[in-house]
Amino acid sequence: MALNAQQQAYLGTMGISLYQSQAAIDPAMADRANSNESISRQSPGSQPVDLHSLGWADLADQVSTCVACELHQGRKQTVFGVGSQQADLLVIGEAPGAEEDRQGEPFVGRAGQLLNEMLKAIGFNRSQIYIANILKCRPPNNRDPKPEEAELCVQYLYRQIDLLQPKLILAVGRIAAQRLLNTNMTLAKLRSKVHELKETQTPFIVTYHPAYLLRAPTEKRKAWEDLLFAKHALENSGV
Ligand code: URA
Repeated sequence: MALNAQQQAYLGTMGISLYQSQAAIDPAMADRANSNESISRQSPGSQPVDLHSLGWADLADQVSTCVACELHQGRKQTVFGVGSQQADLLVIGEAPGAEEDRQGEPFVGRAGQLLNEMLKAIGFNRSQIYIANILKCRPPNNRDPKPEEAELCVQYLYRQIDLLQPKLILAVGRIAAQRLLNTNMTLAKLRSKVHELKETQTPFIVTYHPAYLLRAPTEKRKAWEDLLFAKHALENSGV
């Protein structure tokens, strides 16, 4: 995906270099990334920041003041993520909705309540896992994330994954699954398989988004199968 000059500048300011194949963005950046040199650029009025060097608190601060894409204009607040920083299981959704934007926490609306029930069914409560989204800001009218918004924001998520080192990622919904696996395959085709998140080498399983399950309750049976599959994968991760 081609990023414009301003977006590339934001990536630089965010210190983004190593998680992604940079060749598609800027071959010179790729060379520096391959040589393990940290890339950071200074934008007017801000200090360069290397995301790879940030701990949880500084990363959360960085997210809370992020203006890398236009979504900052419409947000009430950013939605960083919630849960245990020692979690074995990381659940990744798409983006905050209205209620998440109000409360500053992912999956707290109706879809979140169903997610909680799904997780309880395999023996987890929210405080034992970690929950985050591809986007930290709510898109207007809950539209799909634009590719450039996801590209910018997913860098924060990669740093969260690096800090968390989960044994397993469970992506809920097509948007999160396709973006993180860099594929256009349907969710139906991506299910029932342990993939790997390339950037962090984390085992990765896919299931339906709880908002979809609210609209199509007959699909809950398949989601249940996915959750059992995820639980089995976690128990056999051997880490
Ligand atoms: N849907 C998502 O994908 N994430 C949330 O946080 C809420 C709803």
